[in-house]
Amino acid sequence: MRNKRNSLIHLIYFSRALLSADAAARARELGEIARQAQKRNEFSVITSFMILEQGYFLQVLEGERSSVQDTFARIANDRRHRDVQIVEWREIVKREFMTSFNTAQRTPANEALFQKANLQPMLQRGTPKAAIVYALARSLQADTMAKQGIDHLFV
Ligand SMILES: Cc1cc2nc3c(=O)[nH]c(=O)nc-3n(C[C@H](O)[C@H](O)[C@H](O)COP(=O)(O)O)c2cc1C
Repeated sequence: MRNKRNSLIHLIYFSRALLSADAAARARELGEIARQAQKRNEFSVITSFMILEQGYFLQVLEGERSSVQDTFARIANDRRHRDVQIVEWREIVKREFMTSFNTAQRTPANEALFQKANLQPMLQRGTPKAAIVYALARSLQADTMAKQGIDHLFV
């Protein structure tokens, strides 16, 4: 049994990305974040999904309460973004994300999912809705998994 201290939680935050304007440099910076996050999250048994949209990062972190808190404390101090704000922090019954670190940004292929979520006005007001971020992350995950031919997991 899990006790209260070690309950399963998710934390959703958003922040302003401080990445290079140059596309190749930005891709390298994102690759470096992914490499660090993947390694540390595997060790801490964290599963996560990060969206990059309109210069904002939005990330869902799932795991044991203390692991998520430690991970978020490191992320919040990272100079590769600013104005890090928690959108939601709550206990969950089960994980929704399959891998330690997955990420997506707008492409012609997933454009419809981003359009449906319509995050932009919420981001500009500084009030993204947790349910919308969560739903978009889940549908982007299903989309990337389907492209890898593992959509049977989502039936
Ligand atoms: C947008 C963003 C998301 C990140 N996501 C994670 C993450 O999920 N897990 C993680 O351990 N580090 C993540 N990091 C990296 C951490 O901020 C930190 O650099 C990393 O954990 C290494 O910390 P250390 O240098 O203290 O070992 C993220 C950084 C940024 C900018």
